[in-house]
Amino acid sequence: MPAQDITAIILAAGKGTRMKSDLHKVLHPIGGKPILRHLLDTVSGLAPARTLLVVGMGRDQVAAAAPDVEIVTQAEQLGTGHAVLETRDAVGPHTGDVIVLYGDVPFIPLSVMQAMIAARHATPDTGLVVLGFRPADPGRYGRLVQDADGALERIVEYKDANAEERAIGLCNSGMMVIDGAHLYGWLDQLENDNAAGEYYLTDLVAVARQEGHGVAVVEATEDDVLGVNSRADLALAERFFQAKKRQEAMDAGVTLTDPDSVYFSHDTVLGRDVSVEPNVVFAPGVTVEDGVTIKAFSHLEGTTVRAGASVGPFARLRPGADIGAGAKIGNFVEIKKATLDAGVKVSHLSYIGDATIGADANIGAGTITCNYDGFLKFQTTIGAGAFIGSNTALVAPVNVGAGAMVGAGSVITADVPDDALAVARGRQEGREGFAKTFRERQAAKKAEQKKGN
Ligand code: UD1
Ligand code: MG
Repeated sequence: MPAQDITAIILAAGKGTRMKSDLHKVLHPIGGKPILRHLLDTVSGLAPARTLLVVGMGRDQVAAAAPDVEIVTQAEQLGTGHAVLETRDAVGPHTGDVIVLYGDVPFIPLSVMQAMIAARHATPDTGLVVLGFRPADPGRYGRLVQDADGALERIVEYKDANAEERAIGLCNSGMMVIDGAHLYGWLDQLENDNAAGEYYLTDLVAVARQEGHGVAVVEATEDDVLGVNSRADLALAERFFQAKKRQEAMDAGVTLTDPDSVYFSHDTVLGRDVSVEPNVVFAPGVTVEDGVTIKAFSHLEGTTVRAGASVGPFARLRPGADIGAGAKIGNFVEIKKATLDAGVKVSHLSYIGDATIGADANIGAGTITCNYDGFLKFQTTIGAGAFIGSNTALVAPVNVGAGAMVGAGSVITADVPDDALAVARGRQEGREGFAKTFRERQAAKKAEQKKGN
């Protein structure tokens, strides 16, 4: 089947009322990626010549998120059949296959789409292929009505079905492959004299049969056709996605101590022999190389962690953090837009932002890069092998040279040369016996006051 013969039409004009959202339903994220993009990424595996998306409200939102598809507006939602009919002018003459998908069904596998296309070409007269499934609870899905020979005769919507039809377990997923040479001619024949007063795409089955075409059914699993209509469905889809990512990670040689408490994004990359403790979140854009340990309760986003490094517990790696090989990031450390070379240690209670730190530098507990003056951000550079004492404030822009030392509690506002020592804090004074004298004097005063009362 040559790829140029496939046109994909994705329906997404429904109002999505049950989401109760200002964001278009198909743009809600699963694993940090919009529902629609999950579907589009799979569709790209079919290499369709064209992909059209039918939208109603929220056209601009969808167009911004999917600049790679052609958008067709269905101003009035008169049903799934009407939605496909609205693509007629955009599609023009086309004699290949048309695959109709739903924008809110993100996980339909490529293999299922391919099976539908293969079924369309199994016999020369097959004009239409319906994707069916057998849900545990058939609920309000359309039912696939078979004739005496077991062939698909028609689809009846739940609203229009009688008790006998409602007892059918084989349901309509809504997705179809149709012979493009006939699609719009058949759609012209649809009527809306049904319980919903809509033009049902499902009625194409009966039309195709009347015109002497064969109609085939491909069956998918309930998980394959999981649709998102509500926030609860979204949470369910997220759970599915996470379960899949966890399994993939473990299959690829990652240890997850408590898989169910680790959250992945669509693009998380973990190397071999990475170990992830409980309650870790990988927000989008994270790559972790081989042999890294991510300890409990850490949050990573837009970050690269290089081989053999150790992160956490309770670490926060924000976008632009690049953690060098064998480096150690300890508890309550936040790193943003900073490159740490191999072997750097930031072990406790620090904020490192807009910085570069050379190999093997040691950043003491409580060190802060003061990178922001309320308007602009400034850079801190720390050379290889430098030692920054605890509770240092590095007021950027500032450079600490290679091998330099900074005394604890310093506020560093000027550059420190290589191998120098900088101490920037009040000099310590001492008075022998002062504390004892002070205590005795104050105690005596207090006793005096009591007497007076
Ligand atoms: C549809 C099917 C039903 C199937 C069910 C599976 C029809 C008539 N019924 O029912 O057999 O079991 O899906 O979930 O096709 N849409 C538009 N424009 C419209 C109407 C809908 O673009 O005018 C889009 C929606 O955004 C959605 C899809 O089409 O992506 C399905 O619409 P929905 O209203 O959910 O159809 P159902 O009535 O559930
Ligand atoms: Mg629906």
